[in-house]
Amino acid sequence: MQLTPLSSSIGASVTDIVPGDLGDEPIAAELLGALEQFGVLVFGDLHLDDATQVRFARALGQPEILPLRTGDHPEIFVVSLDPEKAASAGYLKGTFYWHIDGATDDIPNKATMLNAIGVAATGGGTEFCNAYAAWEALPDDEKEAYRDLRVVHSFEAAQRLVTPDPTDEQVEEWRRRPAKEQPLAWKHRSGRVSLVLGATSDHVVGLGLDEGRALLARLESWATQPQFVYRHEWQVGDLVIWDNRGTMHRALPYDAKSPRLMHRVTLVGDEAFA
Ligand code: OGA
Ligand code: MN
Repeated sequence: MQLTPLSSSIGASVTDIVPGDLGDEPIAAELLGALEQFGVLVFGDLHLDDATQVRFARALGQPEILPLRTGDHPEIFVVSLDPEKAASAGYLKGTFYWHIDGATDDIPNKATMLNAIGVAATGGGTEFCNAYAAWEALPDDEKEAYRDLRVVHSFEAAQRLVTPDPTDEQVEEWRRRPAKEQPLAWKHRSGRVSLVLGATSDHVVGLGLDEGRALLARLESWATQPQFVYRHEWQVGDLVIWDNRGTMHRALPYDAKSPRLMHRVTLVGDEAFA
């Protein structure tokens, strides 16, 4: 297996590996190390079927079992903007904004994998930023000022970006998922620190609403500068895995009627925000 960096701060392409190797224990251990190091791993031309994708996910961790499922595998979540293909299509425009999967949970997903079954003719790439590198590059006085700030995250905040004028019913529905306070700077067990930002971030505890939101917007712009970002342009058969703890990601807009279709598996996290 060969690892080739895809940019100066995030992403590596994994080659010289065949689907049959993906469930292999030593290979999985090596890939988890690479995921921590590079944040995003790209496997081109893999064309995994669902069973093989799930087997691969099991080698890397514990796949989440999802309530909204479509096919035979309860681990596979269908990502599509077409309501005929995906049960959650209505919410997935939220993926057009930078985010961390499970940002309102105590323990966010450890990693997410997307398997490209269909791709858009235009748009529909996925961008990833290295939230460790973005923290590390902040000036020391800013690190000092932000280190202990806390931010309230909610599903509502993310959905308001997509639907700025919601009905009362929509708001009620969104609020069924409770808001959660998280650190702005996540001090990981590894000793590394990453910024926790994105669409779900609503306000900063202890700061005025406008001041806090301006800070969140400024830090998001900082963290998503080109030197911290890798953009993946999809081909059918690509599989991409990201470390959901030290990165943020977003989909670039695509047409809801495009053939873009991803089979996603998320891995249960084992490290709480801290
Ligand atoms: C996701 C997600 C991005 C994409 O499935 O969690 O953010 O490019 N997807 O579809
Ligand atoms: Mn996501």
